Amino acid sequence: MASTKVAAVALPDLSHLSSADYERVYEPSDDTFLLVDALSADVAELLGRRPALCVEIGSGSGCVITHLGRLLPDAALLAGDVNHHANRATAATGAANGRRVVPVQMDLLSALRPGIVDVLVFNPPYVPTSTEELVEAVATADISAAWAGGPRGRLVLDRLLPALGPALSPSGLFYLLGVAENEPSEIASLLREQAGLESVVIAERRAQNERLFVMRCRRGGATEAPPSPRRDRSGELATAAESIS
Ligand SMILES: C[S@@+](CC[C@H](N)C(=O)[O-])C[C@H]1O[C@@H](n2cnc3c(N)ncnc32)[C@H](O)[C@@H]1O
Repeated sequence: MASTKVAAVALPDLSHLSSADYERVYEPSDDTFLLVDALSADVAELLGRRPALCVEIGSGSGCVITHLGRLLPDAALLAGDVNHHANRATAATGAANGRRVVPVQMDLLSALRPGIVDVLVFNPPYVPTSTEELVEAVATADISAAWAGGPRGRLVLDRLLPALGPALSPSGLFYLLGVAENEPSEIASLLREQAGLESVVIAERRAQNERLFVMRCRRGGATEAPPSPRRDRSGELATAAESIS
């Protein structure tokens, strides 16, 4: 049987970020590392899709999108975050690790044209909180907006679900990190109903008091297209880059 041999890729160097940065930008933690490990373990699937454009929503330090970019050296990388400190940290992390990451200050996928994302990654604010706590975190642009997720930790993710189907290219993949309280089986049903995506949990880990999971989602059989020849994304990146704060 043919096998894909891929060299192990170490975690990106983050030594340019200080404790002062982590007062304003989410510091990589167990959730970040599970997502990075899951992407590494899924590299054969990723390479097989020949992705031209990878996007991370909520890139924080830039650890995940930079790692993805090192797994997929030919892909263009775009990273959105509502936090402009995260935009700057992400660009710096890409540069420190030899990958250009275009940072965009945007809510979810709001600045992107439909159908252009080949790989989408999201580690959302997933911690269950009251709606008031989430609203206040967003209003004050506090670091707690990085983790406060509203009831069941789902308010931010649930807003994204209807946008996923239109955003992904025909062979696109979506990787989602969450915790058990987010109710992954209900998320899988909503992904099918609202985005036409089939999901499978590809990684799970217990970390302190959290039961973390990573889901990989792709279009259901009939609607999924085979990977197409690589497309030139430079124009799309230039358009997206206009929104950089
Ligand atoms: C749990 S942190 C994850 C950070 C990083 N991806 C990681 O794994 O370490 C969630 C990130 O999502 C960002 N975020 C929260 N709401 C967002 C929204 N509506 N659109 C884009 N980014 C958002 C936060 O600013 C934060 O950087």
